[in-house]
Amino acid sequence: MRSPYEELGLAFGDAAVPYLYGTDCTPALADAVVDRLGDVDTVLLVLDDGVRGHADAVAAELGRRVRVEAVAVEAHERHKTLPTVQHLLESAVARGLTRRSAVVAMGGGTVGNIAGLAAALLFRGTRLVHLPTTPVAAFDATVSLKQGVNLSAGKNLAGTYFVPALIACDLAWLSTVPRHDLLTGLAEMVKNVLVAAPALEAKLLRALDDLTLDPAAALRALLEIGVEAKAPYVAADPRERGGALIFEYGHTAGHAIEFVSGGAIRHGEAVAWGMLIAAEVARRRHGLGDADVAAHHRLVAPLDLPDAAARLDGLDRAAIRAVLAADNKRGYGPCAPGEVLMVLLDGMGHAVPGPAGGPPLVPVAVDAVMDAFETVAMNALEAV
Ligand SMILES: NC(=O)c1ccc[n+]([C@@H]2O[C@H](COP(=O)([O-])OP(=O)(O)OC[C@H]3O[C@@H](n4cnc5c(N)ncnc54)[C@H](O)[C@@H]3O)[C@@H](O)[C@H]2O)c1
Repeated sequence: MRSPYEELGLAFGDAAVPYLYGTDCTPALADAVVDRLGDVDTVLLVLDDGVRGHADAVAAELGRRVRVEAVAVEAHERHKTLPTVQHLLESAVARGLTRRSAVVAMGGGTVGNIAGLAAALLFRGTRLVHLPTTPVAAFDATVSLKQGVNLSAGKNLAGTYFVPALIACDLAWLSTVPRHDLLTGLAEMVKNVLVAAPALEAKLLRALDDLTLDPAAALRALLEIGVEAKAPYVAADPRERGGALIFEYGHTAGHAIEFVSGGAIRHGEAVAWGMLIAAEVARRRHGLGDADVAAHHRLVAPLDLPDAAARLDGLDRAAIRAVLAADNKRGYGPCAPGEVLMVLLDGMGHAVPGPAGGPPLVPVAVDAVMDAFETVAMNALEAV
């Protein structure tokens, strides 16, 4: 009989991680989770409180075969903190988890990162399963070992790398993501095409077109784009400290926008703005051609970003500068005070090399980033 899900094999260096995916296959995926965890005694289901409906179904299926302890987490940047991680760890111990137990993280990237860090710390490392429910989580965040939380100075400043035992996604879970979040969440796919896989542009645009008419096929294609583009890089550079740093494209300004907006501008949308800002910086400094800048706008256009001025004008510029100054890529390469490290492109699929053969990060004056921010805030959508 045909399996209700498909399986991709991800590699992070020597570590192999299966990624199971399909549509309307929750019972089969829950069975696979228990089967592949083998001797598991208890599952700590860390669930995003925005996906309780989907999580109840998963808990019921898992509960037929294993003890399930559920803890809900509010998926918001302000809760992506060490106290939330501690709360999960305390709950795990209070509920009797052992070294044979596993943490199952179900939700978007926020809950995936919080639960991922908790799994890495519990008993110095407990098995982790990701059940992603947003495009950012399913097509991007889980194709990464990075687990991290925010500190008061900025995003993802504390964390670690942790290899999950399994990733499993019923693409039907994504059907309840609000349309704005679904579309802007696909900014990470736009990023993949811009930095690593220009040849996938037509497939991406077709999938974006198909989202309304044939969502199941569109989401499968988007998952494949996410994995296809990123997998070779994380296989070679599992800690994303070398060549895989290109996937930080759009994240320098993007993280600052996301953080300063207090999470009101979600990750995907913030990265979309961040890529337009990076393109503007590269146009001025590295001669990124008009056709390549136009490609940014062409690919971002289907994400239906809100009006740039309305979205970006209200953000506190001093706070953005402060977050840029604390960016978590500092130290990867030379960067003077008043500068920040950015991934920049000098052509589609081609990152500007870093100094002295280092990672592909270029020091840019914060003033130059802010100038580009103002340009995008004033006229990004006119340029589309
Ligand atoms: N390498 C990495 O680890 C990596 C990569 C990309 C992003 N991230 C992180 O991921 C986070 C962003 O993740 P996100 O974009 O998934 O947003 P999110 O996890 O913050 O979720 C956004 C909202 O969507 C809700 N939600 C989740 N799934 C839903 C569903 N199926 N239906 C309806 N609502 C749903 C959540 O409850 C929340 O209210 C950021 O903190 C970012 O830093 C990490």
